[in-house]
Amino acid sequence: MCSIIGYAGRSAAAPVLVSGLRRMEYRGYDSVGVATWGEDGAILLKKGAGRVEEVNRRLGLDGLAGHAGMGHTRWATHGVVSDTNAHPHTSSAGGVAIVHNGVIENHLEMRRSLEDSGYVFASETDSEVIANLLQRYYDQTGDVRSSLLGTVSNIRGHYAFIAMFGDGTMACARHGKPLMAGLADDGLFLASDVRGFIEYTDDAVYLENGTCCMVRDGVLEVMDFEGNAVRRPATKVSREFGDLDKGDHDHYTIKEINEQPGVIRRAGASSVAQIRRVADMVRIAGHAYATGSGTSYNAALMGRRVLARFAGVRLDAVIASEMPGDTMLERGGVLLAISQSGESADVLEAVRTARRAGCTIAGVVNSANSSLARDSDVVIRMDCGPEVGVAATKSFCAQYSIMLRLAEALAGDTGVDLEGVASAVSRVVQDSDRIREVAAQIRDITDVYVLGRGLHYPAAVEAALKIKELTYIHAEGLAGGEMKHGPLALIEKGTPVIVLNPYDSTYGDMLLGAREARARGAKIIGISDRESDAYDHWIRIPPGDEVSYSFSEVVAAQLLAYHAAVARDADPDYPRNLAKSVTVK
Ligand code: F6R
Repeated sequence: MCSIIGYAGRSAAAPVLVSGLRRMEYRGYDSVGVATWGEDGAILLKKGAGRVEEVNRRLGLDGLAGHAGMGHTRWATHGVVSDTNAHPHTSSAGGVAIVHNGVIENHLEMRRSLEDSGYVFASETDSEVIANLLQRYYDQTGDVRSSLLGTVSNIRGHYAFIAMFGDGTMACARHGKPLMAGLADDGLFLASDVRGFIEYTDDAVYLENGTCCMVRDGVLEVMDFEGNAVRRPATKVSREFGDLDKGDHDHYTIKEINEQPGVIRRAGASSVAQIRRVADMVRIAGHAYATGSGTSYNAALMGRRVLARFAGVRLDAVIASEMPGDTMLERGGVLLAISQSGESADVLEAVRTARRAGCTIAGVVNSANSSLARDSDVVIRMDCGPEVGVAATKSFCAQYSIMLRLAEALAGDTGVDLEGVASAVSRVVQDSDRIREVAAQIRDITDVYVLGRGLHYPAAVEAALKIKELTYIHAEGLAGGEMKHGPLALIEKGTPVIVLNPYDSTYGDMLLGAREARARGAKIIGISDRESDAYDHWIRIPPGDEVSYSFSEVVAAQLLAYHAAVARDADPDYPRNLAKSVTVK
């Protein structure tokens, strides 16, 4: 996914745009660019492949003149990562510049038609058709409004774009990708995310799908795709989203890992009534579905186990991108749609499918203004504060805690003590230095297997995902009992195997599995509250019960992955090729 931003006001636009892009960089960070409307009406543009800081240093994006402009950070979908494919793109005549987030599905068809009419393309992106299409309409009509409406009636897909015309008018459209306006004292913003402008204002106008806007002479005009005026109220957004300071930490990721004890205590605290309501819905339906992608799906897997164990309720966990067709879902079911960002395209699509099947949607989200929150019948808020590190850490603990609170609402008392869990996690976090020493030992490995049984199996899958993302080491999370059914063939002298082996009902069988792997040459890293001669390295977690162990071992694995990433000179906050939320399918 990408981030887009526009500004028109009294301040110099380029520095304002660059600072907004820095804050939204989590959305995509393979290239960046800024275009401004210069004094003489010319569009000035600088862009290049690389991170905001680096490209700005190299090209001086923030030195562009002008009081209106737009910016973009990219996560490549159509076309390789290159200076040319970076946004903004201009029409071939140079009269229109655009930045775009999303996918234009009919771009090939549009491109051919535009090329036949003499418009020339410079990049491989789907986005460039928007610039040339706007230009074609503008060439025909000389009018921004009809150019905008003509363009949105021609393109298909999911998009948000901002355009700047040679006369200084800014325009934008939203269809399936986030876009909002910020109303500051000294100017107007358009952005993918409130973080783009929160430094300047917390007055925002959330634009609906199927709306477009024009910004001219400091006035924001909102209309639907037919050109009818639309009234959208301004909303106060939480200043909390401006709190994106790393403090004394080297990276957001370690800051967010360290925040987890508080996150577990707070998770879902603002949604007590909503959790009860979802429990009632599930009770009536008799069972539920849960969906998510990546880490959020792993939280669904934890939910599946804890709802079965503590509430005797069946929760079918389905990877969002694998959601079966609506005819396969039971009518009148309940879908728990779990997503930190609330913007993952796969999750939103799964929600649409479940809706067609007559399911009620309970969104578990961090952002109350996200698309998922708006598409849900009931919203449970994660309350974990902004997560900037691209790898999900604290959001997992929040989602898992909410699954436990839901189990409690269904079952009455589950005996789970989330306060005790938070204390155990805070001890793991305090052990960071000792985990760093183990991380130094796995710095140069190429593969690792993570084993767990019962509740510790989804924890092993999540642990492996963190190691993959942060360190680029190939990692696989496996059910402890499955090792001997195949994966054992991969073990040779020195192959590292992490065993999640707390002293609970899974302990004996796991230890046996560890010994079997060790007998074949594996180097065993035991994550456990008990030391054993089966381990070459021991990461100690506090004693507890099955639930608190599962939190502790995931957090220990996050720390292991974080420290190993730093030791390998990988940037833990911005792993290569990834984006914080993936708004394309
Ligand atoms: C893993 C990670 C991703 C996200 C996934 C879903 O560390 O960050 O796997 O969990 O892209 O994102 P959300 O929860 O925003 O839908």
